[in-house]
Amino acid sequence: MNGPSPRITGLGRYVPARIVTNDELSTMVDTSDEWIRSRTGIAERRFAGEGESTATMAAAAGSEALEQAGVKPEDVDLVIVATSTPDFPLFPSTSCLVQSALGLSRAGAWDLSAACSGFVYGLVTACQFIETGSQRCILLIGADTLSRSLDFSDRTTCVLFGDGAGAALIQSDPEAGGLLSFVLGADGSRAADLEVVAGGSRSPMTAERLALGQNWITMNGREVYRFSTTVPVTALVQATERAGVTIQDLDLIVAHQANARILQTAAHNLGVPEDRFYINVERYGNTSAASIPLALYDACVEGRIKPGALLGFMGFGAGLTWASAIWRWQGL
Ligand code: UT7
Repeated sequence: MNGPSPRITGLGRYVPARIVTNDELSTMVDTSDEWIRSRTGIAERRFAGEGESTATMAAAAGSEALEQAGVKPEDVDLVIVATSTPDFPLFPSTSCLVQSALGLSRAGAWDLSAACSGFVYGLVTACQFIETGSQRCILLIGADTLSRSLDFSDRTTCVLFGDGAGAALIQSDPEAGGLLSFVLGADGSRAADLEVVAGGSRSPMTAERLALGQNWITMNGREVYRFSTTVPVTALVQATERAGVTIQDLDLIVAHQANARILQTAAHNLGVPEDRFYINVERYGNTSAASIPLALYDACVEGRIKPGALLGFMGFGAGLTWASAIWRWQGL
């Protein structure tokens, strides 16, 4: 490719201060630290406190990414927030709240809805603007506050999720690198495997639906597990083929942090050592659209990603959706 390349020049993150341990959840539902750790790898997660929301967390993460890149708010062309838990059910979008909070005076703003695949969908979307040369500086944020949609009487879902935000500043770079290939996919026929039934245009919220608990997340855990260990893995392989590389060439796979077992099984299916997948789910649980940028951030801090590294991004989640991308890391 000859035109400008996308380069991640800054990363940011925000997680709420409140840590919720497995033991604390065990006081609310019939579960145990042993069950949660052995089935998911999760030890603790963060829950947003009073005054915190998807927009406040997203803005904090975005602010750090701008600072790290040394970019002024007025130089940002676009801000995209990937989220399933916007501050408001209809409008304004969460990205508009972030645009205002950060003073992104020139930026266009919109939300992107692809659940836990949202950050990779957003990354691919942002890169299209950079590669055509139409935009030069894009703030991409994945942020979710799933704790506010959890049914704390349903032990099969409430132990899995946490809140947080991760951000990447993507800038135009003359040197080749960044996005080498991608695969985006969806299977809406499986929408009911992971859903919140009420509160949208199909089933507006009523007292009756509220009483039935239709405002909470429900999930067919086994089906989602089966999907997560197969379809996104195939998509990652397809993405490597499109980039002209192999799975073995990947230095690190930064995947959606749903469950450590899913990632270990994926490693086994791909024939790579487990440590080829970065895993930090033990600290945050499943933070949906925030999980991949939070993993990318932590992996960088831990020195797991060096300039020149070949990365595989692997997102998957409700929709059902999946998104894989191969990325040449040029260094921050
Ligand atoms: O972004 C994608 C989000 N979704 C996911 O990542 C979920 C993917 N699915 C999974 O990770 C797994 O299916 C779970 C972790 C949700 C469940 O693990 P599992 O090994 O598939 O458990 P299971 O559903 O087969 O249930 C086994 C047992 C059941 O009891 P019985 O019927 O055998 O007596 C459940 O009721 O475990 C019970 N169980 C629990 N026990 C203690 C389910 N949740 C819990 C819990 N604590 N939190």
